[in-house]
This record gives sequence, C-alpha cells and structure tokens, in this order.
Amino acid sequence: MSNLIVIGTQWGDEGKGKIVDLLSSKADTIVRFQGGHNAGHTLVVGDQVFKLSLLPSGVIREDKIAVIGNGVVLDPWKLLEEIEQLNSRGIKICSDRFLISENTPLILPFHKDLDLLREQKAGKEKIGTTGRGIGPAYEDKVGRRALRTGDLKDPNQVKRKLNIIKDHHDILRAGLGATDIDEEQLFDELMMVGKKINTFIKPVWKILNEQIKKNKNILFEGAQGSMLDIDFGTYPFVTSSSTIAAAAAIGSGVAHNKINTVLGITKAYTTRVGEGPMPTELTDSIGRYLSEEGNEKGTVTGRDRRCGWFDAPLVRRSCLLNGVTSLALTKIDVLDKLEKIKICVGYRIEKEEYTDFPVSTSLSNKLSPIYEEIDGWNTSTVGLEKIDQMPIKARAYIQRIEELSETKVSIISTGPERNQTILINDPFQL
Ligand code: GDP
Ligand code: IMO
Ligand code: MG
Repeated sequence: MSNLIVIGTQWGDEGKGKIVDLLSSKADTIVRFQGGHNAGHTLVVGDQVFKLSLLPSGVIREDKIAVIGNGVVLDPWKLLEEIEQLNSRGIKICSDRFLISENTPLILPFHKDLDLLREQKAGKEKIGTTGRGIGPAYEDKVGRRALRTGDLKDPNQVKRKLNIIKDHHDILRAGLGATDIDEEQLFDELMMVGKKINTFIKPVWKILNEQIKKNKNILFEGAQGSMLDIDFGTYPFVTSSSTIAAAAAIGSGVAHNKINTVLGITKAYTTRVGEGPMPTELTDSIGRYLSEEGNEKGTVTGRDRRCGWFDAPLVRRSCLLNGVTSLALTKIDVLDKLEKIKICVGYRIEKEEYTDFPVSTSLSNKLSPIYEEIDGWNTSTVGLEKIDQMPIKARAYIQRIEELSETKVSIISTGPERNQTILINDPFQL
C-alpha cells in the first residue's frame, strides 16, 4: 500500500495540479477531499491546456478512477459543465471511473448570491473570496441543514430540506437586496441535475477502503493551501474548509493511519490571491517581474496574484501542520533572471523578533520580514529534467529552502509541462 496526500504549503496556486497530474501516472485513484470550484488547477500536456476546478487533476488520464469525497462542497451545475468540457475534448467521464460521495454537500445558487452580496456589503473589510458560494455552503453543512448528493435520489427529501434551507436563508439574505428564492423552480432544476449525476453517487468511503485492501495506490489531491486553512490560516482571510493533510481522512472516509506520505507543494517564491496578510509581498518592480514571469493570474477569477519572496518560517510551519514527508518545489525557473534573491528567515515587529508565523492576524499584518540574500544564477533552468543540470547557485537556493523548512525536496518543477520536472525521490515512498 502506498497512499499519498498532495497539499499546498502556501496560499494556494503552488502548482498542485501539475504535480498531481504527473504523479497520477503512479496512482490507481485520485481523490479530492475538500474545497470546491474555488480551486483552479492548470495542467499542461503537450500543446493541450486543461483548467480544472472541481474534478480531480488525475481525471484526464482515462485509465484512472477520479473521486469527489464528502469533504468537498459540490456545485452540480458547475460539475456538469466541467464534465461536458472534458467530453468535448474527447475525455470521457463515465460512472465506472468517476465517483461522488453520497454525503457530499451541495452548493446551491443562493450560496453564491450570499457570498457575493456579503463581500459587496463588507466593502474594505471583504475577504476577497472567489464568489463561488463556498463559505455559505460549508455554513449549511455544519449547521446540519445541507442538501447532500445522496438526497437527490429522494424527491421528498429534497423538497423537505429545501424548505428548511430556504427559511434559514430568507433570514440571512434580509437587507442584502437579494431576489427571492424560487423553491419550486430550484426543486425542478435539482431533479434535472440529479438525473444526470445520480449514476456517479456511490458509497465512496467503502470503495476506497476496498481499494486499499487490494493494495491500490490512492492519491489525495488538496485544494487551496495551508495558509488558507480555516483553523491554521490567516483567519478570517481564509477559505471555509480544512485544507491541511488531516482533512484527507475526514473528507474521504479513509483513516489517517492508512495514508503514509504527504507531499507539500511549494512555489520557489510566494503568491496570494484575495485580501489578508502576506509579509513578503513585493509591490515594486521585482513583484511585477515575478507576476509577469510567473504568469501569476488567478485561474478561477482572473485576478492578479500578489507576489513576494519565499517565506521560510511559513513553509516550515506548513510542513509541521501537514506532516510533510517531502516537498515539490515549483516554478524555480521563474527566478532565473534575478541578480539577487531574498529568502525570509524570520519576522520583526518593531524590536521584537518572531521565528514562527504568528496565528493572530493583527500580529501577522504587522510583520516585517527578516531577509537573507543570495546570488541569483542568471542561467535558464526551464525544462531541466536532471538535478546535475541545475546551476550550482540554484542548487544552493534549493538546499537553503530544505534547511530552513527542515524538509527534503523530492521533486523540482522547471516548467508547466509534465516532463519539465526533476524527480529526485519517489514521493510515494517514505
Ligand atoms: P494549483 O492551484 O496549485 O494547481 O496551481 P495553479 O494551476 O493555479 O497555478 C500554477 C501555475 O503555474 C499554472 O499555470 C501551471 O501551469 C504553472 N506551473 C506549474 N509548475 C510550474 C513550473 O515549474 N514553472 C512554471 N513556469 N510554471 C509552472
Ligand atoms: P487552488 O486550489 C488561491 C482564496 C480566495 C480568498 C479566500 C476565500 O487553485 O490553490 P473562498 O472562495 O474559498 O471562500 O475564498 O481563499 N482561495 C484561493 N486562493 N488558490 C485557490 O485554490 C483558492 N481557493 C480559494 O482568493 O482569498
Ligand atoms: Mg490554483
């Protein structure tokens, strides 16, 4: 048995999609276990580019099983759209290789409305959400009123639950200027999407555990990043799910002690979309260079990603929170043309020094990074496939990241394509 969790160690967009797509060649099954279509994962395969939000990144390999676990919040209309997009490109999604857990909560249209209206009302205090209804859908889940995928098979249950949810949302929406929820129309639409997705809805927890008994390899694909975790992220500027590795167990029904390795995806610098603290953010010409060279535009919302230097205490903390067994360092090629490169090794607030990223947002908002500077390598690393081709100075940068994050790098990504990768160690193995 060899089961691997892939998670982002920063604020998302670390390149998880590329690495999951690459490693799914070694997996039998790929499972999404949290988040929803707030995720945006770009995969480049030859001259083809795939942008996925909801389907696991392994889905484009047709000999693999792709799974949406119970920890995800699922917009069924968005799912059908994504399936349709892949079908039109010749990638067939059928029920013998795509499964959705029967206890996955649904995102409904009024979740999205509420998300957008709240952000609008918050003005300067907004979170900068993706506006996909993620937060409100998780609220209904923990409020024990969510409509779940399995309910779609029972019209009476859908009617009963819709009524309860509508009553609750009528109160939440009061004063926000939302249009009324048309319960009957929504019921009819849900029955229609239900017909299309019911064949995928299965007891995922059971099927995954049966696979484990048969020694199949399962790859758990995290979305977002550890700094967007509802508990350990820069609260309240976070998403509404647990994004750390422990969520793979809760969000799929596979016990934590059945999962042996955790690969932490780390960008060679830092990016963030949306509001909230980011100590190493650069608003100068270097920030603009990283943004342009790294093509740092959000996949889901098209927003510019904020860019900055690598933040080592932040990644070290993520490695501990997730039990990261090795790192995949992505986008090293983006730094190729820089004369000098900085790494944040700690923080300062006035005279006080911090070696760890503080949990409190009021503190993390005030952090000034303490930097170490190293020489750039001024040589192209684009597309390198072997570690001994890597310039000595780039290797020194990678080594410093390993030391500061107290974790070894097993994969170096040198471009968006599958083959633009240096595999140092197999991340499935400890
Ligand atoms: P995810 O959300 O973690 O899956 O990451 P995204 O797909 O949102 O963003 C990562 C972007 O960087 C995508 O456009 C990838 O194609 C691209 N990418 C991934 N790895 C590399 C790399 O090593 N070098 C470069 N230049 N681009 C990369
Ligand atoms: P991937 O999987 C980057 C951010 C949003 C916002 C906050 C809350 O591509 O790494 P939400 O819509 O989840 O309520 O928004 O979280 N966010 C992401 N940032 N990558 C993502 O996913 C993100 N998913 C959510 O920008 O700041
Ligand atoms: Mg992304």
